[in-house]
Amino acid sequence: MPPELPASALYSHPSLARLWKKVHFGYSPFIHRPAVRKLYSQPAPLLRSLLKKQPYHVVALGCAEGLKESVLLRKLPKPYHLTTADTSLTMARIAARKLPAKKKTAKKLDLTSPSSLSHVLQSHSNLSPPTRLLTLFGVLPNLDPLPLLRRLTKTLRPCDLLLFSTNLAPGKNPRAGALRILPQYENPPTRRWLEAAARRFRPRLPQGQLVFQINSDPRQRSLARIEARWISPRTVHTVFSSRRPTACQVEAWIRITHMRKLARYLDPLSEEGVWLVTRKA
Ligand SMILES: C[S@@+](CC[C@H](N)C(=O)[O-])C[C@H]1O[C@@H](n2cnc3c(N)ncnc32)[C@H](O)[C@@H]1O
Repeated sequence: MPPELPASALYSHPSLARLWKKVHFGYSPFIHRPAVRKLYSQPAPLLRSLLKKQPYHVVALGCAEGLKESVLLRKLPKPYHLTTADTSLTMARIAARKLPAKKKTAKKLDLTSPSSLSHVLQSHSNLSPPTRLLTLFGVLPNLDPLPLLRRLTKTLRPCDLLLFSTNLAPGKNPRAGALRILPQYENPPTRRWLEAAARRFRPRLPQGQLVFQINSDPRQRSLARIEARWISPRTVHTVFSSRRPTACQVEAWIRITHMRKLARYLDPLSEEGVWLVTRKA
């Protein structure tokens, strides 16, 4: 299995965050398909009834500039406290400025580190009220999903709600589904972003070229990954990977990580889905 660059290496420098934003505005179904954007306001009625008009906190994990959270929060009562957290502190700060809340904090976060995650989540432990709504939009494809969901289950309190979204491989066959959406990745702006990340990475990668492929996830063979590999004469590195589960695979992750599904929202083309879950009692 080729060595992989950590997902954070693709976003943490402000110049890379800017290049990613161009990709997002150019190709993200959230930007270009109203049905996908709607997925982020659809959970609002259920959330309003679960929050029971009580004050609550929002913790926006891996939020970038908070575009998806903004669609959701427009339909919810203003949170008491908002924490925006991302490997890019620059983007987390922009999200905190834009999103509504009585009090706000922006933090740098490494979702792959249990201590970084609990540091971000603990900042609320002495705050009243107790209910927290955690959001995790569009991050699962970039990180190893099962360990991340396990880490989150450990930190969730019984009254917490987790709303997460993921890109999906449309249809029943993950590989065929991933092939259908490959053009969202194999395009000049994505190439510019990932080549810049490869050039910035230390230790330096040898001269090479970026090649897009669909491979199986090495940790879960039935899961398709769209990958960008940096291929040089003697070495291969995986610069980027986006896992594309089917909706059934996501539901299996929820069961395996001892979470309880409260609701699911799928876009009509099954390219993206949003799940509302809580910790199993
Ligand atoms: C594909 S973008 C999704 C951004 C946004 N939530 C959305 O859905 O439009 C992935 C986000 O995860 C963040 N990220 C990547 N690796 C991370 C890590 N290890 N810890 C925290 N955030 C990370 C990136 O900075 C980026 O904002």
